[in-house]
Amino acid sequence: MEISQEIMDAINDQINFELYSGYIYLSMATWFEEKNLSGMAHWMEVQADEEYAHAIRFYRHIVERGGRVTMKAIEGPKTEWASAHDVFADAYKHELMVTERIYKIGDIADRLKDRSAQAMLQWFYNEQTEEEKNTMEIRDMLKMIGESMPALLQLDAKLGARPAAPAPPLESTAP
Ligand code: FEO
Repeated sequence: MEISQEIMDAINDQINFELYSGYIYLSMATWFEEKNLSGMAHWMEVQADEEYAHAIRFYRHIVERGGRVTMKAIEGPKTEWASAHDVFADAYKHELMVTERIYKIGDIADRLKDRSAQAMLQWFYNEQTEEEKNTMEIRDMLKMIGESMPALLQLDAKLGARPAAPAPPLESTAP
């Protein structure tokens, strides 16, 4: 099925939003670096890499179907937060927004009976469940930690062990 302009426009927008997401997470990473929470900074850097890989997955979908990707300006991210908890609370809220946007692309794919886009989007539905869970759990842990510096440092060390993000996939429907 030839890719429609409507789904191509929606995916082009999402490529931009995934790159914007990566930009937000890098902004969060540098905030953590400044606070000497290098484990959380590392976690955010890995997250930024994942967002790049998400953008590439959408990019490949358009390219594989003979479409054209249109690059757009990336919005500037927020740069200041009141606490580590607030950073992860924002990250969780952001992921909810990403999920909502991806579901809307799914609605378009359903309406157009675009099975190819649906197959590609299936990976993202599962990924968003994971992204929401990760950020929500860390936000909740930070809420429990409150003002306890030893507990904060312990969580920082744990998040510093996050493995590197996988390289961007070569196919949009790769597992
Ligand atoms: Fe690409 Fe964190 O969603």
